[in-house]
Amino acid sequence: NRLRHVDSMASLPSGAGSIRELNAVILGESLASEENHLVFPSDDFSRQALISSPQQYLEMYKRSIEDPSGFWSDIASNFYWKKKWDQNLIYSENLDVTKGDVSIQWFKGGITNICYNCLDANIESGNGDKIALYWQGNEPHVDGSLTYTQLLHRVCQLANFLKDNGVQKGDTVIIYLPMIMELPITMLACARIGAVHSVVFAGYSAESLHQRVMDCKPKIMITCNAVMRGKKTIDLKNIVDAALLESSQNGITVGLCLTFENESAMKKEATKWEKGRDIWWQDVVPKCSTICDVEWVDAEDPLFLLYTSGSTGKPKGVLHTTGGYMIYTATTFKYAFDYKDSDIYWCTADCGWITGHSYVTYGPLLNGATVVLYEGVPNYPDSGRCWEIVDKYKVTIFYTAPTLYVTRYSRKSLRILGSVGEPINPSAWRWFFNVVGDSRCPISDTWWQTETGGFMITPLPGAWPQKPGSATFPFFGVQPVIVDEKGNEIDGECSGYLCVKSSWPGAFRTLYGDHERYETTYFKAFPGYYFSGDGCSRDKDGYHWLTGRVDDVINVSGHRIGTAEVESALVSHPQCAEAAVVGVEHEVKGQGIYAFITLVEGVPYSEDLRKSLVLVVRSQIGAFAAPDKIHWAPSLPKTRSGKIMRRILRKIASRQLEELGDTSTLADPGVVDQLIALADS
Ligand code: WTA
Repeated sequence: NRLRHVDSMASLPSGAGSIRELNAVILGESLASEENHLVFPSDDFSRQALISSPQQYLEMYKRSIEDPSGFWSDIASNFYWKKKWDQNLIYSENLDVTKGDVSIQWFKGGITNICYNCLDANIESGNGDKIALYWQGNEPHVDGSLTYTQLLHRVCQLANFLKDNGVQKGDTVIIYLPMIMELPITMLACARIGAVHSVVFAGYSAESLHQRVMDCKPKIMITCNAVMRGKKTIDLKNIVDAALLESSQNGITVGLCLTFENESAMKKEATKWEKGRDIWWQDVVPKCSTICDVEWVDAEDPLFLLYTSGSTGKPKGVLHTTGGYMIYTATTFKYAFDYKDSDIYWCTADCGWITGHSYVTYGPLLNGATVVLYEGVPNYPDSGRCWEIVDKYKVTIFYTAPTLYVTRYSRKSLRILGSVGEPINPSAWRWFFNVVGDSRCPISDTWWQTETGGFMITPLPGAWPQKPGSATFPFFGVQPVIVDEKGNEIDGECSGYLCVKSSWPGAFRTLYGDHERYETTYFKAFPGYYFSGDGCSRDKDGYHWLTGRVDDVINVSGHRIGTAEVESALVSHPQCAEAAVVGVEHEVKGQGIYAFITLVEGVPYSEDLRKSLVLVVRSQIGAFAAPDKIHWAPSLPKTRSGKIMRRILRKIASRQLEELGDTSTLADPGVVDQLIALADS
């Protein structure tokens, strides 16, 4: 790795600030300001990179903003369209609620199919025998692989089964599967026939699954009997049974539950079964034909729904459509990871989250990449597991959340590292860079969201120097703006709310069944802009620094959780009168969940009660949302109008007691002292 010294650089586009007076930096050298540390890609790396200089980026970026139609239509022309989009109208949008309904459309009138572009198109261009998926089971000796042709055959078989069972274009299918090959296979099979998939992360509880069934009323449920996570067997079928039972008691009956026998976790015979509704995948799917015609769909036909947590209310069904999402995920994948045909790519995210949709399944396969899927957990059988997998498959691009471990493996194959899900602090960045990447691999710290479909602010690894902890600059076509409380755009060195001006192809189009909530949540706070819910600052060189959520959403180990959801689970406990949940810094998970609990009068605090409160969250949402800490609260700090002052709770939770600030507006300032007194009880 070579670190170069520069004095100045070309100015970056307006809105992205400008790079000036760069300080020369040698990694590890201590400089006064964190922000001035620049880490350069090596000359070798830049020379072979798709985007190899700031100038090249600037030219492309400028065109993407000034001439979006030309920019995106050139890119989209490399994909297969049965019929091209309306040539005069590559996109149409209204992001301003004061001017009418918010609407975003890209490539309208274009007829295509994303599954065709992921599979058939790659096979036609001669990549049929290339490995599409490597699958690594929970146990180190259990694995498998599929070439592009084999994957297509599997997808077609399932697609035929779905069609034979009445699933039609526009119907919804819920997928509740762990990271086995059948998960991307099922997503692609739905896409092939124009059905809308809704993957529910297989760590969600029966109650959460039931809520999603009620909301999107799937035609079919697809699951497997069980999965091993480390040493634990998780009986997924039991969870599905409970969810479907509750749904049918509430008027929504799912008539078919296709169940894959995940043999290494549980045998058929041990699985509970409901005759008439449940069918074993292995009994029916392999019998179907390996050829299945594609259902051609409009670019704006829905591709999938993915539920995500907000700061209030029940989970929101984020809806993505076909054409724009396809072009956007493929293009972001290609450039942010500087993709080469020879790469072996591993993203540790589960397909139950957006990262798994865009960057395990669609983005990589659209590029004809070889993808590693891993069923298990990062620390089984030991903490070297991830590096063992990297070495086994000679992974060159490794994309993960900032919280992982390192040990004795060579990792020589690695070329690029990616990071997502939470702000990565400069020391974690350095560790990732120095230790995991041997100071050789650029880090793509990608900022984006379920709603954005793909990367929004991200390094392009060969193009410009990085600053540890900064997501750097916007991707093509993206115009990030930072606004103040009043919604005024602020320029230069600044800090405020992160919004986006104008649409980009991968943007979500609505919240399923609730367009009004879509507008209220994302477009009302700052009219004319999409509001991300994140805080951000921009430094004098135009680099972006994400500072975390400004609303009541917590990111726990890369899982997004609304505090309101956890609170409503807690208060459903008969002995809990009131609950307030905040996020606190957590060494391993990034953020941890900290719950203040007021009990029903007369109920004494006890260890058992603490456990049963945690249990109620596990069973209503899932284990990943379990509070790390329960803090007994005789009462909660509230304003005179009854609003809980979370700012104060956050300070108490992180023990920043000297920074409590003004407590005089509280209805009862004494509450704070009571809480502090109970902090470690
Ligand atoms: C956070 C995950 C800092 C952010 C793709 C955002 C990040 C939320 C980064 C979305 C990053 C994601 N740096 N924060 N590189 N990437 N976030 O919808 O708070 O699960 O709003 O999508 O994760 O989480 P979601």
